[in-house]
Order: sequence, then C-alpha cells, then structure tokens
Amino acid sequence: MMKGVTTQSCFVSRNTMLKIWKEFSFLMALLWIERMARDIAKEMGGTHIVVLCVLKGGYKFFADLLDYIKALNRNQDESLPMTIDFIRLKSYCNDQTMEEVKIIGGDDLCMLAGKNVLIVEDIVETGRTMRKLLAHLEKYKPQMVKVASLLLKRTPRSSGYKPDFVGFEIPDKFVVGYALDYNEYFRDLNHICVISEKGRQKYKM
Ligand code: IMP
Ligand code: MG
Repeated sequence: MMKGVTTQSCFVSRNTMLKIWKEFSFLMALLWIERMARDIAKEMGGTHIVVLCVLKGGYKFFADLLDYIKALNRNQDESLPMTIDFIRLKSYCNDQTMEEVKIIGGDDLCMLAGKNVLIVEDIVETGRTMRKLLAHLEKYKPQMVKVASLLLKRTPRSSGYKPDFVGFEIPDKFVVGYALDYNEYFRDLNHICVISEKGRQKYKM
C-alpha cells in the first residue's frame, strides 16, 4: 500500500455514493424523457397540439419534456407547434388511492374542441385517474387525445389502462421526488426514490 493512504480512504463514502446515485437516477429520467419526446414528435409531429399538464405531479416532467420537444423543433424540418394548458386532479391520500378522482382546477376546456391533445401525467398506477380524465375530456370533443406518463407502475391493482407514451415501468412501490409527492411532501427532490417507512409515518395525514 502507498505510504499515507489508509484502507478507508480507498473507498467512496456512503454519502458520496448516495450523491452519485441521485445524479445518475436524475440523468436516467432525462434520457427516458428525451426518448419519449422523439416518439411524440414522430407520432404527433406536423400538427398543432395542446399539451395539457396534469398538476401538480406532472409539472417537472412537463417542463423537461417540452424543453426536449422544443430542441427537436429547432433541429428538424418538421416541427411540432404547440400551446400549453394545465388541469389539476386529486386522487390520493397518504399512499392510498381515493374512491373519487376530483378535478379541482383548470381553464375552460372548450378550447380543446377539434384539437390534438397530449396529456402529460407523472405516474399511472390503477389507471383510474387517467380514465376519469379521458372521459371528462371527451365532452369537449377533441380530435385526438394521447397520454404521456413518465412512470407506469406494475401492480395487480391495474385496471389494464396503458398510456400511449411511457418513460419507465416501475415496481409496485410508492415513489416520490421530481414533483411526485406523499401528502404534498418531497415534490422538491430532484431525483425519484421509494419513500421509506419512516417518511411514510412522519408525513401521514
Ligand atoms: P391511478 O389513478 O391509480 O392510476 O393513480 C394515478 C395518480 O395517483 C397519479 O396521478 C399520482 O398523482 C398518484 N400516484 C400514484 N402512484 C403514486 C406514487 O407512487 N407516488 C406519487 N403519486 C402517485
Ligand atoms: Mg398525477
């Protein structure tokens, strides 16, 4: 062994490993989003689309996805002209899905008539929230509606609903960060992670 180098200093500390892992998972998420932006541009390119962000959980994904679509627009002959809008839904308390999915905000959706709409959602679990939103939007007679979800949870509780564009499939765990919350906590984390039992208890309602 070299003089002055202890065995311990040869190893990366737990904190550094954690930092590396967080950066890595954040970069992975950006890679999934970039790939999805390409798929969306391929399928929906050439026509004007209304990108509808589902608040609050979808806002980080929405912002990054739009950045990638804008970058593609700059570098390609055929662009994807778009306008943006927001809708707010509530379907969860603690880590349990609620019976009723509430639409608790959003603009007048009449402007969706005849338009191609891309819904941007953070995560699909049972699929109930998305089915409810799709049924609601039908009333406004859009020409086409596609759904982009950053995550799709593999769960036996699934209703079988699958979004048109999925970033990544995850196991049946409750995840937070990158705008996903547990009772409004953890949205501010840059990376996505599984909530611990300690966190679950501390922020329980
Ligand atoms: P679904 O109706 O069961 O598909 O649930 C979808 C909604 O529940 C999403 O829009 C999220 O807001 C929330 N949700 C489901 N799973 C998670 C999770 O693991 N973390 C955070 N929110 C979740
Ligand atoms: Mg959501």
